[in-house]
Amino acid sequence: MTRIDVHNHFLPAVDDGCKTPLESITCLRAFWHRGYTKFFVTPHTGAMEFGDIQPAQVIRHLEMLRKFLVADGIAVQLRPGGELRLSPRILSLPDTSRIPTFGFNTPYVLVDLWEPDWPWWADECVDWLQAHGLTVILAHPERMDCLRLNPDFIDALADRDLLFQGNLGPLGGSEGEDGRGLAERYLLEHRYFMLGSDCHRPDHLPSRLGGLRRAVELVGQEKVDELTITNPGKLWV
Ligand SMILES: [Fe+2]
Repeated sequence: MTRIDVHNHFLPAVDDGCKTPLESITCLRAFWHRGYTKFFVTPHTGAMEFGDIQPAQVIRHLEMLRKFLVADGIAVQLRPGGELRLSPRILSLPDTSRIPTFGFNTPYVLVDLWEPDWPWWADECVDWLQAHGLTVILAHPERMDCLRLNPDFIDALADRDLLFQGNLGPLGGSEGEDGRGLAERYLLEHRYFMLGSDCHRPDHLPSRLGGLRRAVELVGQEKVDELTITNPGKLWV
């Protein structure tokens, strides 16, 4: 099996994810035992709370983590990425050089939004990214307040040609019953283009791995393979 995790915070000491290489390896090993052999590391980008890590820094930190993996004998592959926080600052970027696309070599970008609503500038950001040739994938819509209040708003977002990445955590109970209910609904409605762990630390592992099992219960192994192998494979080029 070559399952691909498309969203995690395993790059150590760059955001609110793993603090040390040991924590990173603990998480990577746990997923490796469940058939994951490829990982995009997706630290928060454009989030000033975490110092706004730039693509060149991601590459440097990734090289360090790869050395720890070799020393530890874990046969997984890591590629760079990022979780881009939508903000009006994107609209004044001169080009896409600071946009952390999957692998830093594809036209797919993972974005999230921290605001409780869907502000006007979020549409402008999506337009800006799409006008620069990028396919925008919205992370964990089931966690967003505006969709918790109005789940059908996802239709308006889909009409803007957004793709959606669901989190395993809510399916495994990390977000309470509301979060689990919406994640299950979107999964059953086939809203998701892919599923990611959004795992930050070892204490997240039980809910993420439980979420993977729950996804199989809900939609079957073949559909889960599409969301964790086939579709993520389109980004691993
Ligand atoms: Fe994340």
